[in-house]
Amino acid sequence: MARPQQLLPNLTFLDLQPPMTDAAREVAASLSAPRPTLDPKYFYDERGSALFDAITRTPEYYPTRTEASLLADHADAMAAALGSDLGPDLVIAEPGAGGCEKVRILLDRWRPGGYMPLEISRECLLDATRALAPRYPAVRFHAVCADYSQALSFPADDGGRPRLVFFPGSTIGNFEPAARGDFLRGLRHLASDRGYLLIGADLQKDPARLNAAYNDAAGHTAAFNLNALHHLNQRLGCGFDPEAFAHRAFYNETLHRIEMHLECLRDQSVTVGDQRIELPAGSRIHTENSYKFTVEGFSRELIGAGFTPLSSWVDDDNLFSIHLARAA
Ligand code: AVJ
Repeated sequence: MARPQQLLPNLTFLDLQPPMTDAAREVAASLSAPRPTLDPKYFYDERGSALFDAITRTPEYYPTRTEASLLADHADAMAAALGSDLGPDLVIAEPGAGGCEKVRILLDRWRPGGYMPLEISRECLLDATRALAPRYPAVRFHAVCADYSQALSFPADDGGRPRLVFFPGSTIGNFEPAARGDFLRGLRHLASDRGYLLIGADLQKDPARLNAAYNDAAGHTAAFNLNALHHLNQRLGCGFDPEAFAHRAFYNETLHRIEMHLECLRDQSVTVGDQRIELPAGSRIHTENSYKFTVEGFSRELIGAGFTPLSSWVDDDNLFSIHLARAA
């Protein structure tokens, strides 16, 4: 079992990144299925994280800036709902923290005792926490490099302190309905019985608005989608020709989800681990689903996973929602 390293007086780093062979096996299996898929986590190497940041700054992609305004506008109301549990004992745990940007508003306004980001990209996590920890000397940073889609394996030893699990960005929309229930129950476990969940959920809306958000004119979403192939080439030597794929993203109105695909423009064969995989022209790799919710529907899912919803906040244009729930 890996042990945490002390990187700064208030920053420890725990490396739980799974070995590469796991990735090769997982990718080979998902690419050779009748409908080839790739897990969206493969978007996020260093370049993928930078491309995602670029997406969040496009005029079309409303979720990030809408959620940030909701957090800023309602941080005090959220703090009030937490009551006396918001204090130096409270640890904010964030699966998939990326560049640790969204949590800053909470660190600024709430002054919690600890922050535990869990992130699959080691570089991203180290850069972000090394920069952030010195700016919040009163906050204990416990950085964990791990794949939260595999196992929600945060170290458990924070002395029974209440945890607030922060899962912003509507990343919950990446999960299929059944897996979503399991994942929410995992978050509930992570929060512990005394804890909370603060989670962002993107809302159903005019399909034109949704389609635009995933087909930005600057082409950052296309580059982000294609980056999964660059990343796999670099990490596993697959030999994809990313130039021979096209970005496809569209809203599936029946299933209430954006689907992202990579369409193969010519026959190619790639190597993953010891497996050879044929991708014929016209075939598609399904790279992401991004489900869209209603406030009522999402509250019901929280209840179904064992949470007690406390409050939810929605912007004036009904684009995005944030939900605060108690774990018990
Ligand atoms: C981070 C998963 C919420 O689904 O909107 C953005 C990822 N994909 N543009 C989303 C994403 C394409 C994003 N999530």
